[in-house]
Amino acid sequence: MDIDTSRFSFAVLTMSDKGSRGERVDTSGPLLQKILAEQGYRQANYAIISDRVDHIREKLIAWVDKEKVDLIITTGGTGVAPTDVTPEAMAGVLEKEIPGMAEAMRAESLKKTPNAVLSRGKAGIRGKSLIINLPGSEKAARENIAVLLPALAHALDKIQGGVSDCGT
Ligand code: MTE
Repeated sequence: MDIDTSRFSFAVLTMSDKGSRGERVDTSGPLLQKILAEQGYRQANYAIISDRVDHIREKLIAWVDKEKVDLIITTGGTGVAPTDVTPEAMAGVLEKEIPGMAEAMRAESLKKTPNAVLSRGKAGIRGKSLIINLPGSEKAARENIAVLLPALAHALDKIQGGVSDCGT
């Protein structure tokens, strides 16, 4: 039986120094919100913040621990530039990693660009929430979320202790 995606709330967090100063328009964040809303997930929040480990951790922890957001998608800051610190911030937030999600995104992305190997994004669990890092460009965000969409509702159900059948 299909899992009702409207059970789950989501938030999108864009990491961009320029975007947070209003010097760049964020197109990836709005795109991800549209894609998730079209899938039936309930929008809870959206923010654009600078690439700072303490700011990223603070926001993610607040959204999970206080606001109880079920699914958080981040975009940006996963690469190898000196300012890219999203994976480092995740280290202080995640309680369990889900390596398969990040591995699948990189493997599929490699079919589209050799630069896919540069994304160090992680995915994992804090409390009963799922947090997933996507790369920052609109193209990369679209291509990467497409890899995980088919498994998202089942993942969220399982994380929250659901008993949905793994065989379907
Ligand atoms: N993955 C897909 N599917 N498509 C892309 O265009 N861009 C790559 C990579 N992953 C890309 C992708 C590039 S160019 C970089 S630098 C890394 O993601 C990290 O991006 P970020 O630093 O914006 O997070």
